[in-house]
Amino acid sequence: MKEKLEQFLKSALDKIQKAETSDDLEQIKLEFLSRNSELNAIKKNLKDLSIEDKKIIGALANSVTKQIEDELNTKNEIIYKKELDEKLNAESIDITLPGTYNPTGKIHPLTQTINEITTIFQGMGYSLVNNENSPEVETEYFNFDMLNFTKDHPVRDTQDTFYTNVAPNVILRSQTSDSQVRQMLSQKPPIRVISPGRVYRNEAISARKSNMFHQVEGLLVDKNITMGDLKGTLNEFIRLYFKGSRPTRFRSSFFPFTEPSVEIDVQCIMCNGKGCRTCGGSGWLEILGAGMVDPNVLKGVGIDPEVYSGFAFGMGVERLAMLKWSVDDIRLFFNNDKRFLQQF
Ligand code: DAH
Repeated sequence: MKEKLEQFLKSALDKIQKAETSDDLEQIKLEFLSRNSELNAIKKNLKDLSIEDKKIIGALANSVTKQIEDELNTKNEIIYKKELDEKLNAESIDITLPGTYNPTGKIHPLTQTINEITTIFQGMGYSLVNNENSPEVETEYFNFDMLNFTKDHPVRDTQDTFYTNVAPNVILRSQTSDSQVRQMLSQKPPIRVISPGRVYRNEAISARKSNMFHQVEGLLVDKNITMGDLKGTLNEFIRLYFKGSRPTRFRSSFFPFTEPSVEIDVQCIMCNGKGCRTCGGSGWLEILGAGMVDPNVLKGVGIDPEVYSGFAFGMGVERLAMLKWSVDDIRLFFNNDKRFLQQF
């Protein structure tokens, strides 16, 4: 019996020494220390032995049990540490690896500019013109005739118009002013609208000119509207758009649909009036066309010019965007080069 126990111990210690994983140890524990183990059988049968033998074999069986348990614990600690090290090594983060790149979309700089302009005017009580009052494919009637451009007026040539082959008078609109007429036909005064959109002109494309660009048109018609209202409104717009009031100048000009007409210059934002390349040395930048709505235009849409008066204005979106962000080539807005677009 004693020999059997010693043999048993030896074989257990042997296996423990050879064990490599915690699973191995689990197996050994089952084999040598469980209820079904040989060791347990010996302990169970102690009662059949003589008192003398019971003492010796009992003590030996206990000591064998303790030795196996101790050995298992020691080995378990070693294996646990080893396995933990392996696991940590396998899972450690390599901070030199490149991060994951999540591309995000952006709002196009021209859309941002249009949104900013519209938001400013909405803050002053203007609404967006109805969509159907702002078509890009337009008739000469709304683009020119109703805006007091006489049939043979040379000014028609200054906005080199694209004609379509849909019908003789169907064109791509050359200005957003067409929406003034359409809005006045569909709404009674008081009218206070803003109308952003695309316009087309047969221009040679260059750093400064594109044959498609954007304008924002504004129109206000009510009783007792004066040039003073126009000045106050547009100076306020300039203050909000350029984030601070700037000197402006209202230069007398001509548009067939306004009388009097003005072009509005703002002191150059690059050189503060000293004269630079952007302002061509003049110290001023032209940013708006405007004027009091011509009585002929009001009559044309059935609004009595003796009762109502109004002002209108139009601005180039690309120009305002170029000034704000110092962009020196209009074509950059349309090439869709991500390196450019990502900067906004
Ligand atoms: N439509 C003009 C253009 O394209 C700009 C303009 C000038 C609009 C005066 C207006 C205005 O509403 O009153 O050059």
